[in-house]
Amino acid sequence: MAERPVLVFDSGIGGLTVLREARVLMPDRRFVYVADDAAFPYGNWEERALKTHIVGLFGRFLARFDPEISVIACNTASTLAIDALRKAYPRRRFVGTVPAIKPAAERTRSGLVSVLATPGTVKRQYTRDLITQWASKCHVRLVGSVGLAALAETYLRQGFVDEEAVRAEIAPCFVEMDGRRTDIVVLACTHYPFLANRMRKTAPWPVDWIDPAEAIARRAFSLLGPGEGAAVPAGPDPAVFTAAEPDPAIRRLIQGFGLALI
Ligand code: DGL
Repeated sequence: MAERPVLVFDSGIGGLTVLREARVLMPDRRFVYVADDAAFPYGNWEERALKTHIVGLFGRFLARFDPEISVIACNTASTLAIDALRKAYPRRRFVGTVPAIKPAAERTRSGLVSVLATPGTVKRQYTRDLITQWASKCHVRLVGSVGLAALAETYLRQGFVDEEAVRAEIAPCFVEMDGRRTDIVVLACTHYPFLANRMRKTAPWPVDWIDPAEAIARRAFSLLGPGEGAAVPAGPDPAVFTAAEPDPAIRRLIQGFGLALI
């Protein structure tokens, strides 16, 4: 019998940054990628409606794919709905994605850290609690970006990115205070690592950009342990995009990630 898959979920293509790392760590696992692109961007949704939407959606996908574990590869969804998902589906296992505030606080030398995220993640109590718990000695600037996730989508779908728009979106992350400067920017949206090169290019000074994808994949791996190897069928893993008409660029893109639309 083939092993049950690992479900990787995001509002769009951002979760592919996590899938990429998960495949490296777990080459003998099967994956299912689910993108709720019909509802993208999650960052601008009202909280209650989004939570209800995500919990409902998972009911369908858990029944359809019966995953061994589900990785919520989306900060905006995770910081809002991970507790509700665990409560609604108590026999299922979930790995969440939350802003990497703790590692940033441990690593910063200047004490100035910025968290770049969707407006939804920036607003969350969950995010505020992480700062109180782990970064009370740092100056943390929360930067809610309205357009960056969409810029990453356009970049991956069409191969184009407006560098001036990236520059404008990241500019508030760079703070100078009492002769010190921001030295760490937490990428608290799984879409953003796709724009990392453009961010480096348009940043006013060099900083460390924390991409949590590998840590999330490691967490999933530690919960699952090594697979059994032999049962993995050859060929692409399935991907579901919830928009009725997935655009042709998506087909090409996900093919490059070893996925096939179903
Ligand atoms: N990839 C998602 C995250 O990590 C957000 C994108 C969206 O706004 O839907 O937060």
